[in-house]
Amino acid sequence: MHALSPQTPSLIRLSDYRTPAWRVETVELDFDLGIDASELSARLLLRRDPTQDAPLRLDGENLQLLSIKLDGEQLPATAYRYAGNVLEIDGARDGSVLETRVRLRPAANTALEGLYLSGSREAGFLLTQCEAEGFRHITYFPDRPDVLSSYTVTLRADRARFPVLLAGGNPDGAGELEGGRHWARFVDPHPKPSYLFALVAGRLEVIGRDYVTADGRAVQLKIWAEVDAIDRCHYAMDALERSMRWDEQAYGRNYDLDVFHVVATHDFNMGAMENKGLNIFNAKCLLAEPDSTTDDEYRHVEAVVAHEYFHNWSGNRVTCRDWFQLSLKEGLTVFREQSFSADMNSAPLKRIEDVALLRRAQFPEDAGPLAHPVRPAQYSEINNFYTATVYEKGAELVRMLAGALGRDGFRRGMDRYFERNDGRAATLEDFLAALGETNHIDLMPYLAWYGQAGTPRLKARGHYDDVRHEYTLTLSQPASGGNGTEARSPLPIPVKLALFTRQGNMLPLSMDGQTSKETTEMVVVLDRIEQSFVFTNVIAAPVPSLLRGFSAPVILECDYTPDELALLLAHDVDGFNRWEAGQQLAARAYENLRDGTANDALLAWCDALALLFDNDAIDDALLADLLTPPGEIELAERETSIDPQRIHDLRQALQQQLAERLGVDALRQRYAALATHTNSELDAVSQARRRLKRRVLELLSLLDQAGACALAAAQYHAAPGMTDRLAALSVLVRCDAPQTVAALRDYRDRHAGNALALDKWFAVQVQVPGEPALARVSELEQDPAFTLKNPNRVQSLLGAFVRGNPSGFHRIDGAGYRLLAERLVTLDGLNPQVAARLATAFNGWQRLEPRRRDAAHEAIAGLASREGLSRNLAEIIDSVLNH
Ligand code: TRP
Ligand code: ZN
Repeated sequence: MHALSPQTPSLIRLSDYRTPAWRVETVELDFDLGIDASELSARLLLRRDPTQDAPLRLDGENLQLLSIKLDGEQLPATAYRYAGNVLEIDGARDGSVLETRVRLRPAANTALEGLYLSGSREAGFLLTQCEAEGFRHITYFPDRPDVLSSYTVTLRADRARFPVLLAGGNPDGAGELEGGRHWARFVDPHPKPSYLFALVAGRLEVIGRDYVTADGRAVQLKIWAEVDAIDRCHYAMDALERSMRWDEQAYGRNYDLDVFHVVATHDFNMGAMENKGLNIFNAKCLLAEPDSTTDDEYRHVEAVVAHEYFHNWSGNRVTCRDWFQLSLKEGLTVFREQSFSADMNSAPLKRIEDVALLRRAQFPEDAGPLAHPVRPAQYSEINNFYTATVYEKGAELVRMLAGALGRDGFRRGMDRYFERNDGRAATLEDFLAALGETNHIDLMPYLAWYGQAGTPRLKARGHYDDVRHEYTLTLSQPASGGNGTEARSPLPIPVKLALFTRQGNMLPLSMDGQTSKETTEMVVVLDRIEQSFVFTNVIAAPVPSLLRGFSAPVILECDYTPDELALLLAHDVDGFNRWEAGQQLAARAYENLRDGTANDALLAWCDALALLFDNDAIDDALLADLLTPPGEIELAERETSIDPQRIHDLRQALQQQLAERLGVDALRQRYAALATHTNSELDAVSQARRRLKRRVLELLSLLDQAGACALAAAQYHAAPGMTDRLAALSVLVRCDAPQTVAALRDYRDRHAGNALALDKWFAVQVQVPGEPALARVSELEQDPAFTLKNPNRVQSLLGAFVRGNPSGFHRIDGAGYRLLAERLVTLDGLNPQVAARLATAFNGWQRLEPRRRDAAHEAIAGLASREGLSRNLAEIIDSVLNH
């Protein structure tokens, strides 16, 4: 029905991969920097692959070519041609030197890709973003990750306007020039792909720290930020040092340059970027201080700092052959970052947080028209593939492999992977081969996980034979699944498990008749369609605890009774599985409420939580998570005809039942007890108390709205830090309490000069559920502080609305969809990457109930019929509409 629009781009296919016909051995870049215009001379030493005879073709987009020379001679116009963003040049030989000079327009670059201006023309600074294909916006180059070159970069600029000049690599001289100008040179001794190139120039402040690596290299760590932000960089510096030590200890990886620069910017398309020796961060992933940063954000800063640092080995020293291998660096680095965060904080809480994210962001992606394998087979715009699937599911796949090999085996395999692929552009096969060979295991069956989309389902059923005292666990995976028509090949699914007695104790496990008292937990691997595992010497019918720690990214279907889930919720020592049992129970209770059927699950859930609520042995933060049912997005995944308003209402009703079971007095008392400890310390106990305090206040607001809002208002005004302040504000906004207006005004005045704090002011207000949200969005769009030019601001208002507030966005009249479609058109003209990411909020529209579905379809089809959409947005809209 929908003809391919003219801008529908051609597809890049993994199966079309060819090694580069031309490589670049050395690159010399010479920049003359200016805000409106910057000029750049590039000198490339070319190497030709003797087995191929393709002409020299270089990528280049939106470049103004000023001059072009080959081997010292100016090229005549007949010797080169430019079409389709490719410059083709005649007469190049192996060893030829190509020199080009181009002009760039940083201040006019609103896409934030290539060289651009962050902040105002007067006070802002220049920086670059090259991943995935931004380098072609800077100079003509074979802009692909399997071309590794040695970079020498010279920056020249006016000293007063650009006192700080930075590029990746080691510093190699600096000095004065005539007319108030100066220069600085950087040489990177490690050959790298073009996507890891970076420069920064402007007025920046710095904090520094000296670091000595385990292998004895003295390194200067430097974090740069604008003057109003530099005091908020100390936490990131500590996190950086912790990350570096951790990578030395956990993976034996040392840093490899004399300096490591980190820069914060408010204008950035994603979280952060691992440019070699010059990481660049979205300010929201770097800046932290108690008055404006929440506990969750502190942990996020620590995680992102670690993530980018870890890329120095998993991504930079060993890079990707092509962008289909993106998860080779991203999945692996997320996994490394998760392990680090688990070591620095609470491991079970981290696991709960990661799985909750996977279910909220990746499962829906994998169940809708945007589903794609962790290693996609094709794409039209690579920027659309920096997804939850490539990152989070990719990390889950690495976790499965690590689990299969065990701690030491995985470390041996990783050592081999880094050694063998150092300085290379690798593939996922290289990764599996290195891990497998060192452990004498064939891991290639795991490739199937990388090649198919959709979340696999795992069925489990148990049978107890009380004569033979045997427990048989039968696991199966359906042969076809996901949303694909393709038959699935069976996947290897590692299932970590334990068996519990009805008294809540773990049984020793034996599969061959021999009981070892030590083994109460083991991993079985399902690698066929169906398989049975027989446990012997089982004295009574047990309750299995399956998929412990979420040992594989699947949807588990197991016919537990509510009592069995309640038993696991009460007794499982695996913190993740305890939480998981509660989630399953809450989801059942939700379904019963929805269907109006008898609700044993609700009773069992509430009773179990009431016991845990009074149990002093349980950690406050874990308790807070246990008291939280699955979110609205997760619950929607269980529906075939989605009505987000009804889901919201049912979830509220579920929580109200829980609150009633706990009792208004118990909730008030617990709140008061927690409030006596109010502080802004960052230790685990203080953070956990704040987390539970927030949850208790939310539950209380369902029973005694006026009372809870009075507490919230008091908490807001007395809060010593952002976590308590924002939690209180959120309760006030959601209740639409009389105190809300004053609190919002106070917040606004208090944080007027802090962009990141102001982002939260926008975001919290559009969390108001249902009908009223849209008017709030429109009103806030008129606020002088709102702009479509800043990705963080767009995310804080529009992103928080379309993604964080399902009942508000999915209005039955379709006004939410129309608003999004209109804004996407404007945004696409400014920043296609941000527009495309926001557009993924339309994912899953086919499963909405009919009225909403029709309204969404109309909005999406309207967008699809527009001329001149970016390749980024066109690909998302086309997929969402037609797949
Ligand atoms: N490689 C980055 C990371 O995950 C993310 C990234 C990819 C990015 N493309 C980007 C960041 C564009 C900013 C802009 O660590
Ligand atoms: Zn990354």
